[in-house]
Amino acid sequence: MPLPTPDAPPEPGPTSTFCENPALRDAWYAVARVPDVTVHPVPVTLLGTKVVLYLSASGDIVAAPDRCPHREAPLSKGYVQDGCLVCPYHGWTFGDGGTCVRVPSANDDVPPPPRAHLQTVHVQQKYGLVWLCLGTPAHDLPVIPQDDDPSFRRLNTPVEVWRTCAARMTDNFLDITHFPWVHLGTFGMAQETKVPRFELGELDHGWFGYSYGVRALNTAAATTVSGQTGNIVERQMSSGFHLPFDVRSTIAYHTGLEHILLLLSTPIDDVTSYFTFVVWRNDDFTIPSDEVLRFDMAIGAEDKVMLEQVPGVMPLDQTTLVSVQADKCGVEWRRKLMELMRGS
Ligand code: FES
Ligand SMILES: [Fe+2]
Repeated sequence: MPLPTPDAPPEPGPTSTFCENPALRDAWYAVARVPDVTVHPVPVTLLGTKVVLYLSASGDIVAAPDRCPHREAPLSKGYVQDGCLVCPYHGWTFGDGGTCVRVPSANDDVPPPPRAHLQTVHVQQKYGLVWLCLGTPAHDLPVIPQDDDPSFRRLNTPVEVWRTCAARMTDNFLDITHFPWVHLGTFGMAQETKVPRFELGELDHGWFGYSYGVRALNTAAATTVSGQTGNIVERQMSSGFHLPFDVRSTIAYHTGLEHILLLLSTPIDDVTSYFTFVVWRNDDFTIPSDEVLRFDMAIGAEDKVMLEQVPGVMPLDQTTLVSVQADKCGVEWRRKLMELMRGS
């Protein structure tokens, strides 16, 4: 084996290999919107594992590996009939809880073999989303107290696929220093590039992060979201995380309007992710949701363009990347994520 030469590049720091990490498999991830799981089976991939979702007769969403126990056909290529998932290959049929209820080739007096039942995956519905846990759930879902507050409404957005690492997305959503660079087309132009010193700490309801004020450009497209006219609006904001990849961003205006964003990054694999976000607002509920969401979706599209240009898995260690004071929330999140992934 050749010895390393003196000018060989340094060994890369530990990087995130998410798919096999036990702690990450014990976490919850948003993979679909609830209304998307209706008359058809829905294929999703989480941490490299292909999963099929279907709505069973009891009204529960069932999640199971997208592999028929008979001859491994992808169940998501089948169909849902009378609340049962029918495999496209030989018609084995699965009902509530993944129970195999029919083997068409078997005589009537022969029940399906015990191992014909699907080994289901933990699933729950919350905030209009379907959440999966591949392992044993070890933590609760992130808490958004406004979801139970009748003065707020909840708005969901589609689940998109981003060709980037979920860690890069989470780091980005905790980072305000990219606003005047990446978000020039939406709200970032008016923001001061310098970030005042801030302290990290517990926010509320299990969120950890920081609070700050931002001057945002209030273009015509932004006025629906800000609820104000005028070129510039002042926002009181906070950004916080909930492990592994959930970010909450809160925005409050002096008018009393609050805009809460839950930004969810789900690893499909180490370099591909789902992204969806949920908004809660205490605004005039008659404003069409599309109008409210259009501006935030344009902001998300700017992040996507940037992140999809950054190659590979994000290093999680504290030395590979260079950080400054303004980056410290993302640095702290990566440190805590590493702790979680190490099981410490
Ligand atoms: S592979 Fe599914 S029924 Fe045969
Ligand atoms: Fe951004």
